[in-house]
Amino acid sequence: MSSTKPLRIGFIGTGGIALNAHLPAWQACPDTEIVAVADVSEEAARKFVIATGGQAQVFADYRDLLRLDLDAVDVCTPNKVHTPAVVAALEAGKHVLCEKPLAVSTGEIEAIGAAVKSSGKVLMSAQHLRFTPAARAIRDWADQGNLGEVYYARVQALRRNLLPARPGFTDVSLSGGGPCFDIGVHALDLALWLMDFPTPVRVTGTTRVNFAKGHKIPGLWGNWSREAFSVEDFASGFIHFDNGATMAIETSWLGHQQENEVMACQLYGLEGGVKWPSTEFASTTGTTFTQGSLTSSANAGKPHHEVVKAFVASIREGIPPAVPWTETLKVIAILEAIYRSAREGREIAIDATP
Ligand SMILES: NC(=O)c1ccc[n+]([C@@H]2O[C@H](COP(=O)([O-])OP(=O)(O)OC[C@H]3O[C@@H](n4cnc5c(N)ncnc54)[C@H](O)[C@@H]3O)[C@@H](O)[C@H]2O)c1
Repeated sequence: MSSTKPLRIGFIGTGGIALNAHLPAWQACPDTEIVAVADVSEEAARKFVIATGGQAQVFADYRDLLRLDLDAVDVCTPNKVHTPAVVAALEAGKHVLCEKPLAVSTGEIEAIGAAVKSSGKVLMSAQHLRFTPAARAIRDWADQGNLGEVYYARVQALRRNLLPARPGFTDVSLSGGGPCFDIGVHALDLALWLMDFPTPVRVTGTTRVNFAKGHKIPGLWGNWSREAFSVEDFASGFIHFDNGATMAIETSWLGHQQENEVMACQLYGLEGGVKWPSTEFASTTGTTFTQGSLTSSANAGKPHHEVVKAFVASIREGIPPAVPWTETLKVIAILEAIYRSAREGREIAIDATP
């Protein structure tokens, strides 16, 4: 029997991702217990508590939950609630795991960073693609010098008709943006992590609503209000980094393509090139091209399970979080600049130093 004192966990936001991905991950994590939940929807909170099979306390307002004696909170609300909930939780002395995107502006990330510094608590955003076996295999291969300096990257988060038909995603006041933030953040964070996070300096971008106001492409995830839809359904961007590298990024919820979803990145390095998630690589030995696919010896756990394990390891072992806010600052600076470039019709210079 373990002698480790269980970590007391509270949930803020108990909807889809909390129920389907975070709850199973916490349940698989030893020496942790979910003791309280907060959600503005009592129905969502009750459903979640039943799924825990426990007796967690239920709150409508997360500020009441934060008065409890908790070790950590897991924030799974719509994007625009992340920053106030994360900052309040850090200020209340809790460690914080938060869904992506951690925040929807660099100003918000800086506020979170200040709260991390003054609280001394662990803050990690759940960028679960970093924990996929394919990503771990590429990271290991790159760490052995097989990729070299990356001079160009192609990043795609393109869906055919998978539009999350809930106001938390389609109402800009709750989400901060459409697919650019929602799924662009996944592929962009992964690519930057595999590139060792070069510093972005200039961005051009475009955002468009091509289909979401009409009915030409029906959503596979149900219907949404065409009138209230206030984000983009397509965005693209081009990014310059301080080391001379460049990147193209493409994101959409609706579009004419055969695949339901293309979530991918391709990195071109001076020693080799590689694709995620296929792990196909190309390289040269002497003057001969070599190619193949990487096999992962890394953990094969479900990515969200690995996220929770990494977060708990940071708390228990006092090690830096696997996804620090200083890295997320660069990710959000790029996405924020894509929107700004689209609005202002020009290239945007950015400073993403913490
Ligand atoms: N990692 C992934 O692959 C992935 C997938 C889906 C969603 N997400 C992220 O997870 C977050 C939640 O998405 P979801 O799909 O679970 O949405 P959801 O709409 O299913 O759930 C959000 C929940 O938050 C609650 N909520 C709203 N405002 C609140 C507040 N002020 N205080 C407490 N609770 C509040 C809602 O009532 C709802 O129950 C989003 O940030 C989203 O980007 C990540």
